[in-house]
Amino acid sequence: MPIPVIDFSKLNGEERAKTMAEIANGCEEWGFFQLVNHGIPVELLERVKKVTSECYKFEREEEFFKNSTPVKLLKELVDKKSEEKLENIDWEDVFLLADDNEWPPKTPGFKETMMEYRAELKKLSEKLMEIMDENLGIPKGYIKKAFNGGEGDQAFFGTKVSHYPPCSHPEMVNGLRAHTDAGGVILLFQDDEVGGLEVLKDGKWTDVQPIPNAICINTGDQIEVLSNGKYKSAWHRVQAMPNGTRRSIASFYNPSYDATIEPATHLVKKENKEFNQSSYPKFVFGDYMSVYTEQKFLAKEPRFQAVKAV
Ligand SMILES: [Fe+2]
Repeated sequence: MPIPVIDFSKLNGEERAKTMAEIANGCEEWGFFQLVNHGIPVELLERVKKVTSECYKFEREEEFFKNSTPVKLLKELVDKKSEEKLENIDWEDVFLLADDNEWPPKTPGFKETMMEYRAELKKLSEKLMEIMDENLGIPKGYIKKAFNGGEGDQAFFGTKVSHYPPCSHPEMVNGLRAHTDAGGVILLFQDDEVGGLEVLKDGKWTDVQPIPNAICINTGDQIEVLSNGKYKSAWHRVQAMPNGTRRSIASFYNPSYDATIEPATHLVKKENKEFNQSSYPKFVFGDYMSVYTEQKFLAKEPRFQAVKAV
């Protein structure tokens, strides 16, 4: 079964209720869904593909194959004819964008295009959080407010630009090891053609099928906590691929580091008494990130326990 594909434009018409229900199902059953007709101009998306591909090609590709750790470690294994798999590293070139970073200097139009793109994606993530508020039955603006530590605009909106270069021995290394995302709402603009992203659903790894110009949405650990477990953050991974370079641009709306996160009171009250309310503690997001950085690729439940003890 492919992951749900939802026509976001239907949200404003007669099919609003149906579309809201599709999004609720995507959040509850999958933790992943794809949006088409999401309102981000195709012309902008085409420019994003162009500048990120150029940036990778002109500023990063050579360095990856010449000097990167995964390339060195894989070469060592192949040279000694080992049949082992590299378990502690990813076959990935990645860098992070925020509003105040240094921008790649040699790619014309990169900064302007990515700033425009990030502004659009931030608006889309805020819209999605309001949809989640409504579907969860909590007050409009609740998630955004929690992520901003009350009022204001303190939340962190980041963009991770990743490329997964072709790998001569994809069976010996992961593109990106399995994990759940730490933060809030993640909006992924993945490659039109080169797949490799998989999500764990009912114990089976399922492809997140490439759809040109779709935006793939998934929810992180903080949405799981806020929703009191109704929207579970899903495990996902990227397989290294033998052919083609996979582009993957993930933008994420995360709580500010000093925001306090806990299950929404409305949802806790609704649960019956048998529900183990203590499975999600109340914590400061920065403390959670300290734990996550150490344990990203391990089971998530111990992270909630560890942050409880902070
Ligand atoms: Fe992820």
